Amino acid sequence: MIRVLMVCLGNICRSPMAEYIFKSMAQRRDLPVQCDSAGTSDEEWGNPVYPPARRKLAEMGISCAEKRARQMDRHDYGRYDLLIGMEERNLSAMRRICGGDPEGKIHLMLEDSPRRRDIADPWYTGDFDAAAADILEGCGLWLDRLEQEEKIKAR
Ligand code: 4NP
Repeated sequence: MIRVLMVCLGNICRSPMAEYIFKSMAQRRDLPVQCDSAGTSDEEWGNPVYPPARRKLAEMGISCAEKRARQMDRHDYGRYDLLIGMEERNLSAMRRICGGDPEGKIHLMLEDSPRRRDIADPWYTGDFDAAAADILEGCGLWLDRLEQEEKIKAR
């Protein structure tokens, strides 16, 4: 069972969407994964998923009602096999929090996309459709890669 931590800045928009979409896609493919999410900042600690992000997940038939934001800490580096940041600036904050990345576990969500890019923050852009589409692409690419690398196998 691979353990994945999705990371963004606030943990109320992109990374919870990534957590729930990743779990839903893995379940549909019958792949065993554990996935959580966290933010690099503590601004939103304890808050539920931002309503427009929650509605976007609900449109996909996914509930995230129980999710509360938390800040990642350096112990997360040992708790997870893979820590996926939504944008480059998340990656530098993640490396700072973890004291580096000696095991090469910290990666960008869309690093395998033919158009490697950040996932724009819908907190600022207001575009939750674009964020969801980017996250769907990223989760699909990561599940393909983990299957190919035989890190996960269908049950
Ligand atoms: P997220 O979006 O990183 O996708 O969860 C944000 C949510 C809140 C804030 C920034 C980004 N904020 O500054 O409070």
